[in-house]
Amino acid sequence: MSLNTAPLAAVLLLLVCLVAPSRGSVTKRNVLFLVADDMRPEIGAYVSPDFPSPIHPKIHTPHLDSLAKKSLLLKRAYVQQALCSPSRTSLLTGRRPDTTRTHGLYHYFRKIAGNFTTIPQYFKENGYTALAMGKIFHPGHTSGGDDPISWSERNWQPDLSHWWKDMGVTWTMADDSEVVAHPLEDMQVAARAVNTLKALAKSEKPFFLAAGFRRPHLPFLCPKKFYDLYPKKAIRLPNNGFTPNLMPEVAWSYNAEMRQYSDLVDHRWYGEINVTLPDEKTLALRRAYYACTSYTDSLVGQVVDTLAELGLENNTVVAFWGDHGWNLGENAAWSKCTNFELATHAPMIIRVPGLTDSGVVTEGLTEFVDLFPTLAEAAGLEPVPLCPKNSESVQTCTEGISLLPLMSNPKRKWKSAAFSQYPRLCISGDVVMGYTMRTDRYRYTEWMLYDDARFKNLGVIHMNSVELYDHEKDPEENHNFAFDPEYKEIRQALHKQLEGGWRHALPDV
Ligand SMILES: *[C@@H]1O[C@H](CO)[C@@H](O)[C@H](O)[C@H]1NC(C)=O
Ligand SMILES: *[C@@H]1O[C@H](CO)[C@@H](O)[C@H](O)[C@H]1NC(C)=O
Ligand SMILES: *[C@@H]1O[C@H](CO)[C@@H](O)[C@H](O)[C@H]1NC(C)=O
Repeated sequence: MSLNTAPLAAVLLLLVCLVAPSRGSVTKRNVLFLVADDMRPEIGAYVSPDFPSPIHPKIHTPHLDSLAKKSLLLKRAYVQQALCSPSRTSLLTGRRPDTTRTHGLYHYFRKIAGNFTTIPQYFKENGYTALAMGKIFHPGHTSGGDDPISWSERNWQPDLSHWWKDMGVTWTMADDSEVVAHPLEDMQVAARAVNTLKALAKSEKPFFLAAGFRRPHLPFLCPKKFYDLYPKKAIRLPNNGFTPNLMPEVAWSYNAEMRQYSDLVDHRWYGEINVTLPDEKTLALRRAYYACTSYTDSLVGQVVDTLAELGLENNTVVAFWGDHGWNLGENAAWSKCTNFELATHAPMIIRVPGLTDSGVVTEGLTEFVDLFPTLAEAAGLEPVPLCPKNSESVQTCTEGISLLPLMSNPKRKWKSAAFSQYPRLCISGDVVMGYTMRTDRYRYTEWMLYDDARFKNLGVIHMNSVELYDHEKDPEENHNFAFDPEYKEIRQALHKQLEGGWRHALPDV
């Protein structure tokens, strides 16, 4: 007996040795994590009859389009709050703003909410080298200074000493030769990412590399050659330069961000409800935004192309996302900070070698909190569990779900709604939280009284402020149907669904 068990034990040990590395380091894929700031999902790859091109003849985003051809393209991905820090904090922790308690640019989730594991931290704790360059977390106090716990080394930031740091106007073209001598900040980030990839390719350890670009965020500064892609006649005015009919005032953002630029100070009332900028200004701003979108696309291309050159393409998961949408004069609105479709809808593209090689497009409703569990699964790490109801003391969990099932079946039944929120401080002194939900057909929003000391929805609607937009009849959200008797039953059903919240919207997987 004892003679027989010894070799058996040896065989078992050998099996364990053969199996263990393949479950560990061998199958672990690298992750390239690319972020754009304020980018609308207006990339060539998104354009379709139901999502027309904003530009004639077309928007120039060849690099993102070609990435999308090998990726899962999420046509209806929604951020959880349309402002940099709350959106990024939510995505990076995989939890919603009600859980991270990060609704503005001040609070830091580890101080105000809980010591939550972030995406890069999860990879770092699983043996990865986790590096960041440029804007990943929103900088400053709200991330404890780029959240050092998340990274293997301090986040690298570009040199901002050249003149464009304080330009003070909404848009400028940088001279094509001057940027060679003084690369713009995102050019520096791309160059750093390329060089870092080359160094990481030589390492045994898997990597998580994050590169965050500042454009197309204001000010719209990018090289002139990207403006040249868009002759002035290619740019059109929005066809709905008016604020939604019957919109409650609390839904509006008075757009402090854009009003601070010196070229807009002459337009004193601009930013108020239904006050538009002169057509010339609107056209120039739209052109500048699209130029900077194409510029960002070119930088993303530099980094993604390096993966292929280094032979890492088949062993690296790539995620590209923009932190929220942006209004370009539609509904007489500019910028973000609202619960409207244009502010909450943002681009997200995920490439998983072997799963998305021939390109997968889904119209399923998805949320930015889904990226954490998706990347963990795609890279071959332990799945991130779904958070319990009160997850303050649970370090590692998520309020999203892995999107991998959509990669094999993009038409399968998925979430019944995507949720976002936005806070307001009203002139009356009331603090209000607007909770919004996008279903297949509708956007439904309720503005609730909110206790911001205890981070609690008080369950009372502020001044009858409810919005219901019918995307089948009114895809531009020009008319609030919440008070229309014909929508009474729909409104009741949507109210129940919003109250039920995101857990009730999960698909069976
Ligand atoms: C938060 O979690 C990290 C990682 O587990 C740990 O190093 C750190 O000490 C924790 N901080 C607090 C305040 O518990
Ligand atoms: C804005 O103007 C449009 C068109 O004149 C009007 O229908 C709409 O009710 C106005 N919106 C608000 C919120 O006042
Ligand atoms: C990556 O995978 C694709 C598709 O399976 C294959 O055609 C290509 O040769 C692979 N590239 C490398 C560098 O292995």
